[in-house]
Amino acid sequence: MSNQGCELGLIGLGTMGRNFALNLADHGFPVAVYNRTGEKTREFMEKEVDGRDIRAGYTLAELVGLLRRPRAILLLVSAGAAVDALIEELLPYLEAGDLIIDSGNSHFTDTERRSRSLAGKGLRFMGLGISGGERGARYGPSLMPGGAPEAYERVRPLFEAAAARVNGEPCVAYLGPRSAGHYVKMVHNGIEYGVMQLLAEAYDLMKRGLGLSPAEMAEIFAGWNRGELASYLVGITARIFLQKDEKTGQPLIEVILDQAKQKGTGMWTSWDAMDLQAPTPTIDTAVMMRDISGYKTERLAAAARLKGPARAFKGDRGRFISRLNNALYAAMVLTYVQGLALLAKASDAYGYHLDLEAVTRIWRGGCIIRAALLEELREAFQARADLPNLLQDPGLGRRVMARQGALREVVAAAARLGLPAPGLMASLAYFDAYRSGWLPANLIQAQRDFFGAHTYERVDAPGVFHTEWEEDE
Ligand code: 6PG
Repeated sequence: MSNQGCELGLIGLGTMGRNFALNLADHGFPVAVYNRTGEKTREFMEKEVDGRDIRAGYTLAELVGLLRRPRAILLLVSAGAAVDALIEELLPYLEAGDLIIDSGNSHFTDTERRSRSLAGKGLRFMGLGISGGERGARYGPSLMPGGAPEAYERVRPLFEAAAARVNGEPCVAYLGPRSAGHYVKMVHNGIEYGVMQLLAEAYDLMKRGLGLSPAEMAEIFAGWNRGELASYLVGITARIFLQKDEKTGQPLIEVILDQAKQKGTGMWTSWDAMDLQAPTPTIDTAVMMRDISGYKTERLAAAARLKGPARAFKGDRGRFISRLNNALYAAMVLTYVQGLALLAKASDAYGYHLDLEAVTRIWRGGCIIRAALLEELREAFQARADLPNLLQDPGLGRRVMARQGALREVVAAAARLGLPAPGLMASLAYFDAYRSGWLPANLIQAQRDFFGAHTYERVDAPGVFHTEWEEDE
């Protein structure tokens, strides 16, 4: 153990904090830790530290005293008021040039506010997106830092060592000023919601549509995970179907209540996408379906009265499953496309100067939305960094086009069977709308002008026009 000050102070010894401290220490960086309840710190030091260079502070003053200057302090506490409270408490112990890093899922506007207020005090602030859960924190998360470039340089060696690696490249990159990192993490979570919804729809089609058992679905998802759908979420879905419930011996999935909760990051993505007028229909739909799932009592009452079509699947099951594979690939790509197009728009609106190639590169490993297809998205941005929408990339466009037939077939089957598949449907509609040189929005303009004199533009002359529409008597 050296006598030099620790490289990083870490506040919050929950699962993420403990694992990230161990990760950093294993990479040779001395870390100082603090937790509000000292008992947790003591327990961590006794049971988990195991000779690593991790030092404990039992007061904030003690923690700060253990750090080398300029100090870097990482907060691993729940987003919200706790972050502001901790920053307030830390202030008396810090000096100009010190850096506070907030790694919670903070709303990007909070990060903007905190960056401004701390800059006014000569302190640096970094909003850090961290993804990958407990395992990621321990063995390599994807890290999405935003803030001043000098602030990033202060922690860059630590982050590059601790992050996941794909083909030798660390899953971390400086993303941009102020809230850029937290914004990218928010959209990461929006995509996460979208893909989870698509997988839930595939599950529904197989369970209620084809009548497959969890064991059969485990095998199908595992097979998909060896192909072009290979991804963390597809992989864990396969595992989930194999898990047995200790209490009943049933597949655990069968005894989990069908009501999805949310902490809100997916909803924030949709909110801001609407604010920026960047369409993200698959993500919006995913939020909506979590909301509908919450209406369990009403749904049960409605199920007794509102009858749909007979749920008899006609056709070849094997063929349908392979169509579903292709449909999912197209819909998954379209979900990432929407998220990245939102990032392109937000980058302009908020002055982030995001490098979307870097975003797709650092999402390839460590994070919840890591997927083989991210390599293809990355290649598209490598070919053209300023792509406003990945569907403009010829290769990717072709790959989605080639699978549109499957997506149409699956969506049609869901509609015929009366099974809700709004994520797949919204993804297809997004594709069809985006590739439409003409949309019926002229009628909307005519209606707006009719009832509100909101004016319209013409196809054959510049300017705005208003018509005195003839109304029925
Ligand atoms: C991650 C996850 C993580 C968290 C989600 C869950 O990237 O590691 O996204 O941040 O598990 O916030 O979100 P919901 O509770 O909203 O589903």
